[in-house]
Amino acid sequence: MASTEDKAASKENTSSWKDSIYNPRTGELLGRTASSWALILLFYLVFYCFLAGMFALTMWVMLLTLDDYVPRYRDRIPNPGLVIRPDSLDISFNKSDPLKYAQYVKHLESFLKSYDDIHQEKNENCVPGSHYLQDDDEEMTKKVCRFKRSSLSRCSGLSDTNFGYHEGKPCILLKMNRIIGLKPSGDPYINCTIKKENPIQMHYFPYEGRVDKMYFPYYGKKAHENYVQPLVAVKLMLTKEDYNKELTVECRVEGSNLRNNDERDKFLGRVTFRIKVVE
Ligand SMILES: *[C@@H]1O[C@H](CO)[C@@H](O)[C@H](O)[C@H]1NC(C)=O
Ligand SMILES: *[C@@H]1O[C@H](CO)[C@@H](O)[C@H](O)[C@H]1NC(C)=O
Repeated sequence: MASTEDKAASKENTSSWKDSIYNPRTGELLGRTASSWALILLFYLVFYCFLAGMFALTMWVMLLTLDDYVPRYRDRIPNPGLVIRPDSLDISFNKSDPLKYAQYVKHLESFLKSYDDIHQEKNENCVPGSHYLQDDDEEMTKKVCRFKRSSLSRCSGLSDTNFGYHEGKPCILLKMNRIIGLKPSGDPYINCTIKKENPIQMHYFPYEGRVDKMYFPYYGKKAHENYVQPLVAVKLMLTKEDYNKELTVECRVEGSNLRNNDERDKFLGRVTFRIKVVE
């Protein structure tokens, strides 16, 4: 007796379990009728369209408030990194083999194109020693201070088209990254050192590796379209005893408030590169 009851119960159980997925009597799928499902889908469709619309609207309003000329949100002005040209932190070449240093010479040559005196003549002859502040009310395009390639003298590639690489006294160019609104204090200059017992002579161009304040501040890509960063060239006066050795050169921005000793960022206001010249 009990066994038949059990069977019936179990049969009912299986049928109700199947019914919970699809019930042919009521036409319900997972406990809902087709029209109920359609309503739910419709609700979510409208809901997500509404969300997407809200998102697009806020983005659009946000973009409208942005100005092409001035970045809107700046908390504090960061410190610039220092970079070198040729664009390699591991420079090595054979001074007797032009093929080995051709890439560096080519790179310097193309990098300096925009500093050609003929282009720079068009720019302002600014007053050295102070920041070149330009009024915001004036027409939006800012004037650019002239930096003539010829001021790099023996590292300009003009008198010596090999930048000293053929004589084993290579020129390295240094520049600071562009930072909008940066106004360095003091009198910034570049100082390079080589970790070695007897120091290696270095020649700086312009004089004493000065980075003139008149090239600051930078007003941004669009407002300050033809802006050129000031450069410092350092000519490493290597001698015979320095060849065939890997030398580590460290250059820093000094004489100003620009950071050059951040422990976490070793490119902030300084750069370290290796150079090896063979003959
Ligand atoms: C450098 O180049 C010269 C000329 O091609 C060659 O005689 C010399 O062996 C090279 N030096 C080294 C260390 O490869
Ligand atoms: C350059 O840096 C070295 C090492 O930090 C220092 O001894 C030297 O006085 C500096 N030279 C100048 C001109 O600041």
